[in-house]
Order: sequence, then C-alpha cells, then structure tokens
Amino acid sequence: MMKIMKNIPTVNDTHIKFKANYVEKTYILKKISPEKSSLVSRLICDYYEDLKNAGISIPKLLSKRGLIFNFEYCGSGLMEILKNKKLTNSYMKNLLNQIETILKNCRKNKVGLDPHIKNFTLLDDKVFYVDTFPPVSKEYINLLIRHNKEFKKEIKLHLKNYKPNKLFYHFLADLKKTKELNKNFYKIAKDNFIKKRYIRNFDMEKVNEIIKIEKSNISKTGFTLS
Ligand SMILES: Nc1ncnc2c1ncn2[C@@H]1O[C@H](COP(=O)(O)OP(=O)(O)O)[C@@H](O)[C@H]1O
Ligand SMILES: [Mg+2]
Repeated sequence: MMKIMKNIPTVNDTHIKFKANYVEKTYILKKISPEKSSLVSRLICDYYEDLKNAGISIPKLLSKRGLIFNFEYCGSGLMEILKNKKLTNSYMKNLLNQIETILKNCRKNKVGLDPHIKNFTLLDDKVFYVDTFPPVSKEYINLLIRHNKEFKKEIKLHLKNYKPNKLFYHFLADLKKTKELNKNFYKIAKDNFIKKRYIRNFDMEKVNEIIKIEKSNISKTGFTLS
C-alpha cells in the first residue's frame, strides 16, 4: 500500500509528521494558554482511553511528551481512497460496516468524535479512527470556552455535532459537502443508515443544518477548537 511520506500541515490544530512506521502529532494551542499544556495533554490521554474503552479501533499510542504524541501508523486516509470513482459497492459496503461499528460503539458508550471521513484510515482491510484532538470531553470544552469567551456560542453549537447521538447525521453531512468523493459512497451510507435504523425518520434538514453550522464557524476569523 502506498504511504504518503510528505509532512502535511493540517488546517486544524495538529502538525503531523509521517515517520518510518509511526506518526508524530504536535497539538497546537491557539487560544488556550500555554500554561495549560500539561492539563490538555492529560485530557487528550483521557479521551484516548475513552475511545479505546468504547471499543473504537484507534492507533496504538506509542509515547508522548507534553503535546507531542506518537501513534502507530494505521494506513492510508479514507478520504484519498474514496476519491476513486471506480470502487465496487461491496468494497464500499465493507468500509461502511466498519465505520458503522465505530459510530454505534460511540453512541452506546456515550463518547463523542469528529466523524469526518478524513479522520478514518485503512490498513490491511481494517478501518481506524485516528483523530484524538480536540478531545471531546466536558472538561476540555469548558477549558476551551474559558479561553475563547467571544466564541462561546459557536463552540457549543459546533461541538454539539460531535455528540454521540449526532454522529450518523454528522457523518452524512461531511460526506455530502465533500465534493471530491465517490458519490455512491454517500448514497450507500444514507440508504444503509436508514435501512438499518441507525437513523429513524430521516430528515435532510438535519444534514443541511450541520453543514451550515460548520461552514459558518470555519469562516469566522478567530474561531478555533484549541
Ligand atoms: N495514526 C495514523 N496513521 C495513519 N495516518 C494518520 C494517522 N493519524 C493521522 N493520519 C492522517 O493524517 C491526517 C491528519 O490527522 P488528524 O489527527 O486527523 O489531524 P487534523 O484533524 O488536525 O487534520 C488524517 O486525515 C490521516 O489521513
Ligand atoms: Mg482530523
């Protein structure tokens, strides 16, 4: 499998370096003060444990020092994989089944996350959820809001979409707005979620509302989740 070797400075608050067989992530605090670094480091660890205890398949945490975390390399990003227009339905259904298991486990164990397709990777046919920052926990969200008072409303609204009971809608919203992806994947996901009753009484307005909130927040200068 091809491995991306270049270092990607991401739009969010993580600097990531791909090493031989692990990834080094440096989490950047934009508004939270540097004195809180060790607290944030602990909150990331707690959140990582929450995901693990909920049965989510996540990369092994190899080591950490302050806000620098080393994780096991867990394959290619699903975002890249799903740009391919020639994937078979059964291939996509296999990916989706594994993503559904992750989202279901979150809902069952009341753990939130950011279900954007770029936060999932694939290694040897196994899907991983790779994003542990920002940690989705009450303690972190309160800390964040204390340091970004002017965006309190926006942050709350934004992170409401990371809550366990929103994840299936949020996943669809991100797929719908990401135009480069194989369009069938969104259709299969939506049909599956309805058929398997992960979403009851499907309402397209709820999908569009999530897209609207994210778009509006990201466009605001000074809006950050760190
Ligand atoms: N453990 C990992 N193994 C392989 N790829 C990873 C791993 N962690 C992250 N990536 C890749 O790096 C990208 C960015 O990582 P992420 O932690 O989600 O940061 P951000 O959300 O700030 O962009 C992901 O989309 C994924 O493709
Ligand atoms: Mg991410």
